[in-house]
Amino acid sequence: MHKDPLNILFAAAEVVPFAKTGGLADVSGALPKALSALGHKVVVVMPRYYQIDKSKLELLEGAMGVSMGPMGELWCAVYTTKIPGSDVDIYFIDYEQFYGRKGLYDDHGRAYGDNDNRFIFLSKAAFMLCQKIGFEPDVIHANDWHTAAMPLLSNTRYVHHFGNAATVLTIHNLQHQGVFFKGCIDVMEVGWEHFNPAAFESMDSLNMLKGGIACADAVTTVSARYAQEIQTPEFGFGLQHHIAAHSHKLFGILNGVDYDEWNPSIDPHISQTFDVDTLEGKLTCKHALQKRFGLEKRDHTPLIGFVGRFAEQKGIGMIAGAIEGLLQLDLQVVMLGAGEKWAEHYFSQIAAHHPGKFGLHVGYSDALAHQIEAGCDLFLMPSLFEPCGLNQIYSLRYGTLPIVRATGGLDDTIENFDAQSGRGNGFKFDHATNEALYYTVRWAVETYHNHRDAFEAMQRNAMQMHFSWADAAERYIDVYRYALAKRRVAQFTKEL
Ligand code: ADP
Ligand code: GLC
Repeated sequence: MHKDPLNILFAAAEVVPFAKTGGLADVSGALPKALSALGHKVVVVMPRYYQIDKSKLELLEGAMGVSMGPMGELWCAVYTTKIPGSDVDIYFIDYEQFYGRKGLYDDHGRAYGDNDNRFIFLSKAAFMLCQKIGFEPDVIHANDWHTAAMPLLSNTRYVHHFGNAATVLTIHNLQHQGVFFKGCIDVMEVGWEHFNPAAFESMDSLNMLKGGIACADAVTTVSARYAQEIQTPEFGFGLQHHIAAHSHKLFGILNGVDYDEWNPSIDPHISQTFDVDTLEGKLTCKHALQKRFGLEKRDHTPLIGFVGRFAEQKGIGMIAGAIEGLLQLDLQVVMLGAGEKWAEHYFSQIAAHHPGKFGLHVGYSDALAHQIEAGCDLFLMPSLFEPCGLNQIYSLRYGTLPIVRATGGLDDTIENFDAQSGRGNGFKFDHATNEALYYTVRWAVETYHNHRDAFEAMQRNAMQMHFSWADAAERYIDVYRYALAKRRVAQFTKEL
């Protein structure tokens, strides 16, 4: 047990295994568990989306009222359970009108028009929940724009009960800032003085993430490199100056991996488990994957995988630009993803023209994501920007060497192969061009063919790397304590 345990309220829009569109869910499932394992008490809050089966959850007694300014008081139900494999309580805010829909944020790429209200509601409900269950947080940990109103709310609307709590906001992706009509200020029920360019205002609209950054006692992001990058015009999405102005309270903490989930020696989704001493098991997984995608069965042709959202961020434009050239080489490619329609169509065409060599699955499949990690030799992740990136780290554990662009967490986790020393755990390039991608893949393929020993040594090294959530959780605790200390100082100076 920790000698000075903290009460932590952790709010997120998605949490594994309940609802997931991306890495935010992986982090929100794993970090609370790791914090709890260190002896802290964590309460997690998320919406009860339509896809979450409430018959498997426990209903709390009594409805909960949440005041929403001009919309009046809205009454919701609250469900609860434990995050699997842990002692962490997770609570689901159940309000049909907001969350009883197919998607989490959008319907086939069209964002819901009331996302502002949906997530202000979540942020406020988190506070009401604490009162309902008698939980007094020392720390309020918000994630991304969805819950970025919480640092302000705890200091204003809910200051009487939560004014002592320190607030921490984690930026998982700066591209999505939550920009809405300024009338949200009234829904939040905070004063209009907060609608100013140093806080929530951005060109006469309301910017949730911007306001959250201004109000939180500490801000974190998910790699050290990304913490630097977001202070520059290339990666700042217009907030670079704002973030630089708050850089004194900005920390980069690399995500960990939940090795109960992503581990080839116990993975229930793959046809043959393997580890660093039984690497030959990987070949069975490769054959299964080739079969699954209708590719030719080839032992000695490198199989390259991609798993991810079909979004510009992931470098799909470069892949589309280079793929025809790449398919002239001795290699095979499988892709799993969904998103931008042009990409879904384009890669479907490629699959139709290159059967046996290129396989595509448009959609979302957790099992297939695991099978790709296990069965491929190389993993392609050429992101234009990548706050942390999880798939390249999962790939390492499966001995699937990543080919990445040197940005954000990709740069922090992947060391370029050095033919001379044999060091490295993957292949990296700097410039976001089709050519750079093409030549780096070609180099990886040549290494696979012509430097087998070096390639296999890299695979073994990669498989033994450990990206621990326990270490990351310790770093979050340091940030929480920093934020708490700051808050005490602020209160002390106010009292003088
Ligand atoms: P991001 O959060 O930007 O999407 P990350 O690399 O942090 O990127 O995390 C993505 C997560 O979502 C990984 O766990 C990945 O396996 C998963 N994922 C993305 N697309 C799919 C898909 N089409 N099917 C299954 N899993 C997917
Ligand atoms: C975001 C980022 C990704 C990161 C994930 C979890 O979705 O795009 O890089 O790994 O959040 O922090």
